[in-house]
Amino acid sequence: MTTPRLTVIGTGYLGATHAICMAVLGFEVLGVDVDEQKIARLAAGEVPFFEPGLPELLTKALESGRLRFTTSFAEAAEFGDVHFICVGTPQQKGSHAADMTYVDASVTALARHLTRKALVVGKSTVPVGTAARLTALVKEIAPAADEVELAWNPEFLREGFAVEDTMKPDRLVFGVASGWAEERLRAAFEPVLAQGVPVKVTDLATAELVKVAANSFLATKISYINAMAEVCEATGADVSDLAEALAFDTRIGGRFLRPGLGFGGGCLPKDIRAFMARAEELGVGQAVGFLREIDGINQRRRARTVDLVTELAGGDVAGKKVAALGAAFKPDSDDIRDAPALDVAGTLHRMGAEVTVFDPAAMENAKRVHPELAYGESALDAARDADVVVLLTEWTEFRAIDPAAMAAVVAGKSIVDGRHALDPAAWRAAGWEYRAL
Ligand code: UGA
Repeated sequence: MTTPRLTVIGTGYLGATHAICMAVLGFEVLGVDVDEQKIARLAAGEVPFFEPGLPELLTKALESGRLRFTTSFAEAAEFGDVHFICVGTPQQKGSHAADMTYVDASVTALARHLTRKALVVGKSTVPVGTAARLTALVKEIAPAADEVELAWNPEFLREGFAVEDTMKPDRLVFGVASGWAEERLRAAFEPVLAQGVPVKVTDLATAELVKVAANSFLATKISYINAMAEVCEATGADVSDLAEALAFDTRIGGRFLRPGLGFGGGCLPKDIRAFMARAEELGVGQAVGFLREIDGINQRRRARTVDLVTELAGGDVAGKKVAALGAAFKPDSDDIRDAPALDVAGTLHRMGAEVTVFDPAAMENAKRVHPELAYGESALDAARDADVVVLLTEWTEFRAIDPAAMAAVVAGKSIVDGRHALDPAAWRAAGWEYRAL
């Protein structure tokens, strides 16, 4: 089989990464988006978000001549043999369900121009049943309806490790309805498969479900250890030691058992909610009812962090200066979607505290969404004259803060470590009142 030409529709986080990596791996790739500004920036060699290693690869891909960008769906349909749908499925306003507007709009826009044999591959995280629905939609509107097929290839990349996760993922999942679709997908991932990456070939619905099942499991691990943290706090036990001891059991493993402020971002929180909403629709809401508890435990971490800061501020934060270290939902990212850090900072501000935030990458995004907060130039700058310091995102540079240097600038030597990122002994030795979640 010939090497397929690829289009990647939606050049946000997932799509841009996929397009760039596939071009670097040797494919002819066309990136497509309705956002002209985004397309112009990418075509000019600029990655519009923070992702280690990606800007260098974009330059390389553009120089190779294999990667181009367009806003034209007609051009995409003409160019591509395999079309990857990588648009977002955010949480609907006023509901827990996924908003399918962008998926439906992009598949419709593409299908109208599909006049020849093509495979349309969904990568977005969607409610199970979407691929079947889109198959019917494509059949209805594509001029070459009989020659167009749908497949599903869920994406598991993590922000901050997007390049690594795309070039050498733990596994690939191909949801297909025919042997032809499987062959096309194998051809579209040939260099990745050649590295020995395992592939699970299955039906469309299972492929869609693998993604939400995986994210639900990860969320469950995090909330599990955070639930243990609540119990530890009530008994004086140490949840970090507990997590380490659990991790020796290879059946449990240590990953995603880091206790702290909990999960946020554009995926885990909305995915478990959309999964619950979809399961309700399917009449199996009870089967995933435990996810409501997972969400609840996660939200309680944010409230508990606010409580700890309040305690250290003497029972009331009104008029107190609080330094918030971190804004991104996790380190090595500038993403502030459902960021626990900004949730906590915003709540403290509403309670009357003067909150100064510092984050190594997410400052611009944070300022846009939270103009009411103050922003420092550095961690030390944010901590100047603070009554309480609270670490909310575990950036490496925060782990490396010298407690003595910070002690010299603050008004009160009180710190809440919301991510178990600091060495309690070192901070206490420098005279700090150190509290962790
Ligand atoms: C997550 C999944 O890990 C990816 O596999 C998936 O592809 C992606 O969602 C997606 O659906 O697109 P991501 O949102 O980039 O990736 O971030 P994670 O590394 O999973 O972290 C999620 C949140 O959990 C962060 O807020 C992090 O601070 C928190 N976390 C993670 C913990 O609180 N404790 C842990 O032990 C691990």
